[in-house]
Amino acid sequence: MGHLISSTTMLQEARRNGYGITAFNVHTLEMLQAVVEAATELDAPLILQTTVGTVKHLGPEYIVAAAQTAAKLSNVPIALHLDHCTDYDLLVKCIRAGYTSVMIDASMFPFDENVACSLEVVKVAKAAGVNVEAELGKVGGVEDDIVVEEADARLAIPEECLRFVELTGVPTLAPAIGTAHGIYKGEPNIAFDRIAEIASLVDLPLVLHGGSGIPAEQVRRCVALGMAKMNVATELRIAFSDAIKNVFNANPDENDPRKYMVPAKQAVKSLAMEKMHLVGCVGRAQELKL
Ligand code: 13P
Repeated sequence: MGHLISSTTMLQEARRNGYGITAFNVHTLEMLQAVVEAATELDAPLILQTTVGTVKHLGPEYIVAAAQTAAKLSNVPIALHLDHCTDYDLLVKCIRAGYTSVMIDASMFPFDENVACSLEVVKVAKAAGVNVEAELGKVGGVEDDIVVEEADARLAIPEECLRFVELTGVPTLAPAIGTAHGIYKGEPNIAFDRIAEIASLVDLPLVLHGGSGIPAEQVRRCVALGMAKMNVATELRIAFSDAIKNVFNANPDENDPRKYMVPAKQAVKSLAMEKMHLVGCVGRAQELKL
């Protein structure tokens, strides 16, 4: 493809055609390479994403450079997204560094304040050709420093979703619909009727947060209802770390990252491929280039 692209068009196409695009939270170069290899082999569009914690850990310039290199070497469309950002200055810094999509998470504020924060971000992002995602309601669980107790999680209200997109002009919306970040204790309690109601009012790509551990059939239902982006973080991190733990358990003296990273990379790649098949984005890359 050559360069990183905004995720707006690819997500609109996914919603229009009834499939989803996987967005993977990556924390190391190997994780990034693994999901890019998965997308390239399956001819799938890809959203690379990093949390604020990872931006602080690696620095936005290193992340952008690695993602741009991936986009240059691969022939599938790739976007680079900043996940759950509550800090306007950091968000602008990431846009300046080359991120092509950002999430402003002001879901902890009352509706009007969420609108005001999101509107500010839409203004700068639109001028830079960058996609914006905003959250309504409150997704439960833990993502980086954002901790939402089960009792504080709130489903998005359909009429508010409509009003929110009218007032802010956000191109993508993440409504809380019962999923949570992290691994579920039991089955997630997804409000499918709520998704359908929101999707009937808001003709935008909707974003499914908390993609780890949702049973396959439930993911397919969410996607069919209009959730065009699925975020996966925890499962990927576990696959990567478990593979490294297995190496050290079998061989405590191993000290070559070029060896112990190999199964970790493979584990991430296999899992990414599985999720891509699940949301239906396999084989969709080339048509997005037209
Ligand atoms: P999981 O950690 O549950 O996969 O959630 C990822 C996510 O929604 C990131 O925003």
